[in-house]
Amino acid sequence: MTKHVLLTGAGGFVGSHVLRRILSDTDWRVTCPVTLRHHGNSDRFAPYLADRPDWAARVRTFLCDLSCPIPPTSVAEIGPVDYILNIASESHVDRSISDPAPFVRNNVELMLNMLEFARQAQPKVFLHMGTDEEYGPAYGDYLHREWDTVLPSNPYSASKATQSALATSWWRTYQVPVVLTRTMNLIAPGQDAEKYVPMVIRKVLAEEAVQIHASPDGVPGSRHWIDAREFAGAWLHLLEHAEVQRHPDYDRPTMYHVVGEERSNLEIAQTIADILGKPLKYELTSFHESRPGHDLRYALDGAKLSGLGWTPRRSLEETLQDIVGWCQANPQWLGAR
Ligand SMILES: NC(=O)c1ccc[n+]([C@@H]2O[C@H](COP(=O)([O-])OP(=O)(O)OC[C@H]3O[C@@H](n4cnc5c(N)ncnc54)[C@H](O)[C@@H]3O)[C@@H](O)[C@H]2O)c1
Repeated sequence: MTKHVLLTGAGGFVGSHVLRRILSDTDWRVTCPVTLRHHGNSDRFAPYLADRPDWAARVRTFLCDLSCPIPPTSVAEIGPVDYILNIASESHVDRSISDPAPFVRNNVELMLNMLEFARQAQPKVFLHMGTDEEYGPAYGDYLHREWDTVLPSNPYSASKATQSALATSWWRTYQVPVVLTRTMNLIAPGQDAEKYVPMVIRKVLAEEAVQIHASPDGVPGSRHWIDAREFAGAWLHLLEHAEVQRHPDYDRPTMYHVVGEERSNLEIAQTIADILGKPLKYELTSFHESRPGHDLRYALDGAKLSGLGWTPRRSLEETLQDIVGWCQANPQWLGAR
Protein backbone atom coordinates (compact mmCIF):
# COMPACT_ATOMS: atom_id res chain seq x y z
CA MET A 1 0.00 0.00 0.00
CA THR A 2 1.15 3.56 -0.67
CA LYS A 3 3.02 4.93 2.31
CA HIS A 4 1.84 8.02 4.18
CA VAL A 5 4.39 10.47 5.58
CA LEU A 6 3.99 13.36 8.02
CA LEU A 7 6.66 15.95 7.15
CA THR A 8 7.31 19.01 9.34
CA GLY A 9 9.14 22.12 8.12
CA ALA A 10 8.06 21.73 4.46
CA GLY A 11 7.82 25.52 4.15
CA GLY A 12 11.48 25.81 5.21
CA PHE A 13 14.61 25.46 3.15
CA VAL A 14 15.52 21.83 3.92
CA GLY A 15 11.94 20.57 4.26
CA SER A 16 10.97 21.88 0.83
CA HIS A 17 13.83 19.92 -0.75
CA VAL A 18 12.91 16.78 1.19
CA LEU A 19 9.26 17.13 0.08
CA ARG A 20 10.31 17.49 -3.55
CA ARG A 21 12.59 14.47 -3.37
CA ILE A 22 9.85 12.31 -1.83
CA LEU A 23 7.46 13.35 -4.59
CA SER A 24 9.97 12.69 -7.37
CA ASP A 25 11.40 9.40 -6.08
CA THR A 26 8.40 7.67 -4.46
CA ASP A 27 4.62 7.34 -4.77
CA TRP A 28 4.06 8.25 -1.11
CA ARG A 29 1.36 10.62 0.17
CA VAL A 30 2.67 13.47 2.29
CA THR A 31 0.88 15.50 4.96
CA CYS A 32 2.59 18.75 5.95
CA PRO A 33 1.70 20.88 8.97
CA VAL A 34 2.94 24.31 7.88
CA THR A 35 3.16 27.75 9.36
CA LEU A 36 4.28 30.98 7.81
CA ARG A 37 5.83 31.87 11.17
CA HIS A 38 9.40 30.88 12.08
CA HIS A 39 10.60 31.56 8.51
CA GLY A 40 8.22 29.14 6.81
CA ASN A 41 7.40 30.19 3.25
CA SER A 42 5.03 28.32 0.95
CA ASP A 43 6.81 29.92 -2.05
CA ARG A 44 9.41 27.21 -1.52
CA PHE A 45 7.09 24.40 -2.62
CA ALA A 46 4.09 26.11 -4.30
CA PRO A 47 5.87 26.61 -7.68
CA TYR A 48 6.81 22.95 -8.16
CA LEU A 49 3.41 21.75 -6.96
CA ALA A 50 1.77 24.15 -9.45
CA ASP A 51 3.92 22.66 -12.24
CA ARG A 52 3.10 19.08 -11.24
CA PRO A 53 -0.62 18.51 -10.48
CA ASP A 54 0.16 14.77 -10.06
CA TRP A 55 2.54 15.69 -7.21
CA ALA A 56 0.12 18.25 -5.74
CA ALA A 57 -2.57 15.55 -5.54
CA ARG A 58 -0.33 13.56 -3.14
CA VAL A 59 0.33 16.49 -0.76
CA ARG A 60 -1.96 17.82 1.93
CA THR A 61 -0.93 20.92 3.86
CA PHE A 62 -2.69 22.33 6.88
CA LEU A 63 -1.89 25.40 8.97
CA CYS A 64 -0.48 24.38 12.32
CA ASP A 65 2.01 25.98 14.68
CA LEU A 66 3.71 22.97 16.28
CA SER A 67 4.61 24.91 19.41
CA CYS A 68 1.05 23.86 20.38
CA PRO A 69 -0.17 20.25 20.27
CA ILE A 70 -1.70 19.17 16.94
CA PRO A 71 -5.47 19.62 17.55
CA PRO A 72 -7.48 16.37 17.88
CA THR A 73 -9.55 17.19 14.75
CA SER A 74 -6.33 17.47 12.73
CA VAL A 75 -4.97 14.25 14.29
CA ALA A 76 -8.12 12.47 13.13
CA GLU A 77 -7.80 13.98 9.64
CA ILE A 78 -4.14 12.99 9.36
CA GLY A 79 -4.99 9.35 10.09
CA PRO A 80 -2.36 6.57 10.24
CA VAL A 81 1.20 7.51 9.23
CA ASP A 82 4.09 5.23 8.25
CA TYR A 83 6.89 7.74 8.76
CA ILE A 84 7.25 11.00 10.66
CA LEU A 85 10.01 13.19 9.22
CA ASN A 86 10.73 15.94 11.72
CA ILE A 87 12.60 18.88 10.22
CA ALA A 88 10.82 21.96 11.64
CA SER A 89 12.83 24.18 13.99
CA GLU A 90 13.91 27.73 14.42
CA SER A 91 17.25 27.46 12.68
CA HIS A 92 19.30 30.67 12.75
CA VAL A 93 22.10 30.88 15.33
CA ASP A 94 22.25 34.68 15.40
CA ARG A 95 18.53 34.95 16.16
CA SER A 96 18.93 32.40 18.95
CA ILE A 97 21.62 34.61 20.47
CA SER A 98 19.79 37.94 20.14
CA ASP A 99 16.48 36.63 21.58
CA PRO A 100 17.04 33.18 23.11
CA ALA A 101 13.92 32.47 25.19
CA PRO A 102 11.20 32.32 22.47
CA PHE A 103 13.64 30.55 20.14
CA VAL A 104 14.49 27.77 22.59
CA ARG A 105 10.89 27.47 23.81
CA ASN A 106 9.71 26.97 20.23
CA ASN A 107 12.21 24.22 19.48
CA VAL A 108 11.57 22.37 22.72
CA GLU A 109 7.79 22.68 22.57
CA LEU A 110 7.55 21.58 18.93
CA MET A 111 9.70 18.55 19.70
CA LEU A 112 7.53 17.59 22.67
CA ASN A 113 4.40 17.98 20.56
CA MET A 114 5.78 15.89 17.70
CA LEU A 115 6.91 13.13 20.07
CA GLU A 116 3.52 13.11 21.77
CA PHE A 117 1.88 12.91 18.34
CA ALA A 118 4.20 10.00 17.48
CA ARG A 119 3.26 8.21 20.71
CA GLN A 120 -0.34 8.15 19.47
CA ALA A 121 0.32 7.68 15.74
CA GLN A 122 2.85 4.82 16.20
CA PRO A 123 4.76 5.29 12.93
CA LYS A 124 7.32 2.74 11.71
CA VAL A 125 10.07 5.40 11.93
CA PHE A 126 10.38 8.84 13.53
CA LEU A 127 13.28 10.41 11.62
CA HIS A 128 14.63 13.55 13.27
CA MET A 129 16.97 16.23 11.98
CA GLY A 130 19.77 17.34 14.28
CA THR A 131 22.94 19.32 13.72
CA ASP A 132 26.72 19.00 14.03
CA GLU A 133 26.52 22.03 16.33
CA GLU A 134 25.12 19.81 19.11
CA TYR A 135 28.67 18.50 19.63
CA GLY A 136 30.23 21.97 19.76
CA PRO A 137 33.54 22.73 18.04
CA ALA A 138 35.76 20.05 16.44
CA TYR A 139 39.41 20.83 17.18
CA GLY A 140 42.37 20.20 14.85
CA ASP A 141 41.28 17.70 12.22
CA TYR A 142 38.99 15.73 14.56
CA LEU A 143 35.71 14.43 13.11
CA HIS A 144 32.90 13.90 15.63
CA ARG A 145 31.48 10.37 15.67
CA GLU A 146 27.85 9.41 16.34
CA TRP A 147 27.06 9.73 20.07
CA ASP A 148 30.19 11.74 20.95
CA THR A 149 29.77 14.01 23.98
CA VAL A 150 27.29 16.79 23.37
CA LEU A 151 28.65 20.25 24.22
CA PRO A 152 26.49 22.97 22.64
CA SER A 153 27.95 26.48 22.45
CA ASN A 154 24.87 28.65 21.85
CA PRO A 155 21.09 28.64 22.44
CA TYR A 156 20.38 27.21 18.95
CA SER A 157 22.65 24.20 19.40
CA ALA A 158 21.44 23.72 22.99
CA SER A 159 17.83 23.66 21.73
CA LYS A 160 18.79 21.07 19.08
CA ALA A 161 20.64 18.95 21.67
CA THR A 162 17.53 19.16 23.86
CA GLN A 163 15.40 17.91 20.95
CA SER A 164 17.73 14.89 20.57
CA ALA A 165 17.62 14.23 24.32
CA LEU A 166 13.81 14.36 24.36
CA ALA A 167 13.63 12.02 21.35
CA THR A 168 16.01 9.59 23.06
CA SER A 169 13.87 9.53 26.20
CA TRP A 170 10.60 9.02 24.23
CA TRP A 171 12.41 6.18 22.39
CA ARG A 172 13.33 4.57 25.69
CA THR A 173 10.18 5.28 27.72
CA TYR A 174 7.46 5.06 25.08
CA GLN A 175 9.13 2.95 22.34
CA VAL A 176 8.82 5.74 19.76
CA PRO A 177 10.93 4.35 16.85
CA VAL A 178 13.35 7.28 16.73
CA VAL A 179 16.22 7.49 14.23
CA LEU A 180 18.43 10.52 14.80
CA THR A 181 20.52 12.23 12.14
CA ARG A 182 23.03 15.02 12.57
CA THR A 183 24.26 17.02 9.65
CA MET A 184 26.16 20.13 8.75
CA ASN A 185 25.81 23.31 6.73
CA LEU A 186 23.18 22.63 4.09
CA ILE A 187 23.17 24.65 0.91
CA ALA A 188 21.05 24.64 -2.27
CA PRO A 189 18.68 26.99 -4.09
CA GLY A 190 15.96 28.49 -1.89
CA GLN A 191 17.90 29.34 1.26
CA ASP A 192 17.09 32.44 3.33
CA ALA A 193 19.18 35.51 2.49
CA GLU A 194 20.52 35.61 6.06
CA LYS A 195 22.49 32.35 5.54
CA TYR A 196 26.15 32.37 4.46
CA VAL A 197 26.05 31.39 0.75
CA PRO A 198 23.22 33.78 -0.33
CA MET A 199 24.83 36.50 1.81
CA VAL A 200 28.20 36.02 0.03
CA ILE A 201 26.51 36.04 -3.41
CA ARG A 202 24.72 39.29 -2.54
CA LYS A 203 27.89 40.98 -1.28
CA VAL A 204 30.09 39.83 -4.17
CA LEU A 205 27.48 41.08 -6.68
CA ALA A 206 27.34 44.43 -4.82
CA GLU A 207 31.17 44.52 -4.64
CA GLU A 208 30.98 44.78 -0.84
CA ALA A 209 33.48 43.16 1.53
CA VAL A 210 32.48 39.75 2.94
CA GLN A 211 33.18 39.27 6.66
CA ILE A 212 35.02 35.96 7.07
CA HIS A 213 35.19 34.64 10.61
CA ALA A 214 38.67 33.58 11.65
CA SER A 215 40.68 32.69 14.73
CA PRO A 216 42.57 35.57 16.40
CA ASP A 217 45.69 34.49 14.44
CA GLY A 218 43.84 34.68 11.10
CA VAL A 219 42.84 31.05 10.38
CA PRO A 220 39.44 31.18 8.58
CA GLY A 221 36.55 29.21 10.10
CA SER A 222 35.72 25.89 8.46
CA ARG A 223 32.59 23.79 7.98
CA HIS A 224 31.44 20.68 6.20
CA TRP A 225 28.92 21.59 3.47
CA ILE A 226 26.28 19.43 1.86
CA ASP A 227 23.65 20.02 -0.81
CA ALA A 228 20.14 19.92 0.73
CA ARG A 229 19.00 17.83 -2.26
CA GLU A 230 21.69 15.26 -1.44
CA PHE A 231 20.62 15.34 2.19
CA ALA A 232 17.05 14.53 1.07
CA GLY A 233 18.43 11.52 -0.84
CA ALA A 234 20.28 10.39 2.29
CA TRP A 235 17.05 10.47 4.30
CA LEU A 236 15.22 8.34 1.73
CA HIS A 237 18.16 5.93 1.79
CA LEU A 238 17.94 5.74 5.58
CA LEU A 239 14.21 5.06 5.51
CA GLU A 240 14.90 2.13 3.20
CA HIS A 241 18.04 0.73 4.81
CA ALA A 242 18.54 1.89 8.43
CA GLU A 243 17.76 -0.51 11.24
CA VAL A 244 15.50 1.01 13.89
CA GLN A 245 17.17 0.00 17.15
CA ARG A 246 14.82 -0.92 19.98
CA HIS A 247 15.19 -0.87 23.74
CA PRO A 248 16.15 -3.13 25.60
CA ASP A 249 18.22 -4.75 22.80
CA TYR A 250 20.02 -1.40 22.47
CA ASP A 251 20.73 1.37 25.00
CA ARG A 252 20.23 4.23 22.50
CA PRO A 253 18.41 4.94 19.24
CA THR A 254 20.01 4.60 15.80
CA MET A 255 22.00 7.67 14.78
CA TYR A 256 23.65 8.59 11.49
CA HIS A 257 25.74 11.56 10.40
CA VAL A 258 24.98 12.91 6.92
CA VAL A 259 28.25 14.39 5.74
CA GLY A 260 29.46 16.46 2.77
CA GLU A 261 32.78 18.11 1.97
CA GLU A 262 34.93 20.33 4.20
CA ARG A 263 35.92 23.83 3.03
CA SER A 264 36.89 26.97 4.89
CA ASN A 265 34.46 29.89 4.77
CA LEU A 266 37.08 31.76 2.73
CA GLU A 267 37.31 28.94 0.14
CA ILE A 268 33.50 28.97 -0.26
CA ALA A 269 33.49 32.76 -0.74
CA GLN A 270 36.36 32.56 -3.25
CA THR A 271 34.61 29.81 -5.27
CA ILE A 272 31.42 31.91 -5.41
CA ALA A 273 33.36 34.99 -6.56
CA ASP A 274 35.12 32.88 -9.25
CA ILE A 275 31.76 31.54 -10.51
CA LEU A 276 30.40 35.11 -10.65
CA GLY A 277 33.60 36.29 -12.39
CA LYS A 278 34.07 39.05 -9.79
CA PRO A 279 36.91 39.83 -7.40
CA LEU A 280 36.39 38.76 -3.77
CA LYS A 281 36.69 41.59 -1.25
CA TYR A 282 36.85 40.26 2.28
CA GLU A 283 37.82 41.08 5.85
CA LEU A 284 38.90 38.49 8.39
CA THR A 285 37.12 39.14 11.70
CA SER A 286 37.82 37.43 14.99
CA PHE A 287 34.86 35.16 15.64
CA HIS A 288 35.46 35.33 19.42
CA GLU A 289 34.78 39.08 19.44
CA SER A 290 32.21 39.43 16.67
CA ARG A 291 30.11 36.32 17.31
CA PRO A 292 30.12 34.99 20.86
CA GLY A 293 28.77 31.43 20.88
CA HIS A 294 30.04 30.68 17.36
CA ASP A 295 32.61 27.95 16.83
CA LEU A 296 35.55 28.03 14.44
CA ARG A 297 35.13 24.53 13.06
CA TYR A 298 32.42 21.86 13.01
CA ALA A 299 33.12 18.44 11.56
CA LEU A 300 31.41 15.05 11.47
CA ASP A 301 32.54 11.55 10.54
CA GLY A 302 30.24 10.12 7.85
CA ALA A 303 31.72 6.60 7.66
CA LYS A 304 28.68 4.92 9.19
CA LEU A 305 26.28 6.18 6.49
CA SER A 306 28.83 5.46 3.72
CA GLY A 307 28.96 1.93 5.13
CA LEU A 308 25.20 1.74 4.58
CA GLY A 309 25.77 2.50 0.88
CA TRP A 310 25.08 6.24 0.64
CA THR A 311 27.39 8.92 -0.77
CA PRO A 312 26.47 12.32 -2.25
CA ARG A 313 26.26 12.48 -6.07
CA ARG A 314 26.96 16.19 -6.68
CA SER A 315 30.28 17.85 -5.88
CA LEU A 316 30.28 21.00 -3.77
CA GLU A 317 31.42 23.03 -6.76
CA GLU A 318 28.42 21.81 -8.83
CA THR A 319 26.11 22.79 -5.99
CA LEU A 320 27.64 26.27 -5.75
CA GLN A 321 27.29 26.70 -9.54
CA ASP A 322 23.59 25.75 -9.27
CA ILE A 323 22.95 28.13 -6.38
CA VAL A 324 24.64 31.08 -8.08
CA GLY A 325 22.65 30.45 -11.29
CA TRP A 326 19.40 30.10 -9.34
CA CYS A 327 20.01 33.29 -7.30
CA GLN A 328 20.73 35.24 -10.49
CA ALA A 329 17.44 33.97 -11.97
CA ASN A 330 15.53 34.62 -8.69
CA PRO A 331 17.10 37.81 -7.26
CA GLN A 332 14.15 38.35 -4.90
CA TRP A 333 15.63 35.57 -2.72
CA LEU A 334 18.78 37.66 -2.18
CA GLY A 335 16.94 40.50 -0.42
CA ALA A 336 17.61 40.61 3.34
CA ARG A 337 14.58 39.43 5.38
N1 LIG B 1 20.25 24.79 7.20
C1 LIG B 1 21.29 24.15 7.74
O1 LIG B 1 22.46 24.40 7.36
C2 LIG B 1 21.07 23.08 8.80
C3 LIG B 1 22.16 22.30 9.24
C4 LIG B 1 21.92 21.29 10.17
C5 LIG B 1 20.64 21.09 10.67
N2 LIG B 1 19.64 21.90 10.25
C6 LIG B 1 18.29 21.65 10.79
O2 LIG B 1 17.43 21.53 9.68
C7 LIG B 1 16.13 21.96 10.02
C8 LIG B 1 15.60 22.90 8.96
O3 LIG B 1 16.49 23.97 8.76
P1 LIG B 1 16.23 25.02 7.59
O4 LIG B 1 17.55 25.57 7.20
O5 LIG B 1 15.35 24.44 6.57
O6 LIG B 1 15.45 26.15 8.39
P2 LIG B 1 14.30 27.14 7.89
O7 LIG B 1 14.34 28.25 8.89
O8 LIG B 1 14.43 27.46 6.45
O9 LIG B 1 12.98 26.27 8.06
C9 LIG B 1 12.49 25.92 9.31
C10 LIG B 1 11.08 25.37 9.14
O10 LIG B 1 10.60 24.99 10.44
C11 LIG B 1 9.28 25.50 10.58
N3 LIG B 1 8.96 25.72 11.98
C12 LIG B 1 9.72 26.26 12.96
N4 LIG B 1 9.02 26.34 14.09
C13 LIG B 1 7.78 25.82 13.82
C14 LIG B 1 6.61 25.64 14.58
N5 LIG B 1 6.52 26.03 15.86
N6 LIG B 1 5.54 25.08 13.97
C15 LIG B 1 5.58 24.69 12.68
N7 LIG B 1 6.66 24.84 11.92
C16 LIG B 1 7.75 25.41 12.49
C17 LIG B 1 9.29 26.81 9.80
O11 LIG B 1 7.99 27.28 9.50
C18 LIG B 1 10.09 26.38 8.56
O12 LIG B 1 9.23 25.73 7.67
C19 LIG B 1 16.23 22.54 11.42
O13 LIG B 1 15.83 21.53 12.33
C20 LIG B 1 17.71 22.81 11.59
O14 LIG B 1 18.09 22.75 12.94
C21 LIG B 1 19.81 22.88 9.33
